[in-house]
Amino acid sequence: MDLSGQTIDGKYQLVSIAGEGGMATVYKGFIRGAAGFQRSVAVKHIRPEFRALKNYVDMFVEEARVGSELAHPNIVQVHDFCAEAGSYFLIMEWVDGIDLGGFIKSYRDQQKLVPWPLAVAVGIGTLRGLGAAHDRVSADGTPAPVIHRDISPHNVLLGINGVVKLSDFGLAKARDRMASMTAPGTVKGKLSYLAPEVAFGKPNSVQSDLFGVGNILWETLTGERLFDGKTDVEIFKKIRTCAVPAISDRRNDVPAALIAVLDMALAADPANRYGSADEFAHALGQVMKQAVGVNAATALGQAVSAARKQLKDDEDDNLSTTERAAGNSRDIEFSTADIGVEPVELTQRATSQQLTTPNIKRQPTPPPVPPDKKK
Ligand SMILES: Nc1ncnc2c1ncn2[C@@H]1O[C@H](COP(=O)(O)OP(=O)(O)O)[C@@H](O)[C@H]1O
Ligand SMILES: [Mg+2]
Repeated sequence: MDLSGQTIDGKYQLVSIAGEGGMATVYKGFIRGAAGFQRSVAVKHIRPEFRALKNYVDMFVEEARVGSELAHPNIVQVHDFCAEAGSYFLIMEWVDGIDLGGFIKSYRDQQKLVPWPLAVAVGIGTLRGLGAAHDRVSADGTPAPVIHRDISPHNVLLGINGVVKLSDFGLAKARDRMASMTAPGTVKGKLSYLAPEVAFGKPNSVQSDLFGVGNILWETLTGERLFDGKTDVEIFKKIRTCAVPAISDRRNDVPAALIAVLDMALAADPANRYGSADEFAHALGQVMKQAVGVNAATALGQAVSAARKQLKDDEDDNLSTTERAAGNSRDIEFSTADIGVEPVELTQRATSQQLTTPNIKRQPTPPPVPPDKKK
């Protein structure tokens, strides 16, 4: 069902589908004001099939309300919540860019790895937004932390201006409930981002969110899912074991300090992780000092633009089967040399075969690492 062209609540005009997730379709839209004023918005249409769910509306109103209270430059702002013809819409700030999942994919498609300073910049931005939610206080000043619960590459939006914004605050609970009423595996791809203790049945916490950030940073640096498998059960087992493969087996340019930060963030025991998002962000900030002469926001913005163009070109190529038949493999020129960050060519260990299959799997037995490269 494509609602493009419709107007919601008399003021939000839907232009086109921007993305689809497990429980909603996101549209690019705009709101018109007086004197030709116009502003882009993202309109999230909650899938109507979930209407049968008990307390469906209450759940969204409550969670959208909590989400909309959070105001921070690194959090996607929720503006409004509307009902129209029995359907529900969340109106959010529009982020002109791509999500981190697309960003990682673009590098993978080109058989490149994300320059580590860009991964660090994504981490710091995500953690600033997350920290603001964790540090939330209620009107009377008592701590009222908001746990995100669904840190995953699709919920980290990257703007072509280099801004990092975390989205979908407060919607994870709703997603869980929906997942439990749909067939197993319907809400795809999210399982991989659970923290080990959550996979053992403990509730989500500040520390499980921080593990999530460690997880997406590991994926950004390697181009691979940290915990992957053919079945949910297989993935689940890997999460519980919390075996984190060494990044140095996949690329050798990542500073030891960054590897140490990720080791801490991805500790199996929550007590051994960072105490807060701010602490984790500070540690990444220290690592960033090694990227001398890099303006992270500018570099990230340029990389996001290039990645978006590459994904779009690829999509266009895929539509043109005649071109494909003629063997038109388009070379995408993307150099970050001018911003002082060179995308790293794949090491021989990350084979090109691994990078051309859509579901990259870790090599079951990584090749031996020379003693000097061992963490
Ligand atoms: N505020 C926004 N601005 C621009 N694009 C967005 C925004 N929110 C979501 N999107 C895009 O829409 C896609 C679907 O979003 P969502 O329904 O949250 O699904 P999921 O998080 O499960 O992937 C996202 O992956 C993202 O690419
Ligand atoms: Mg999302």
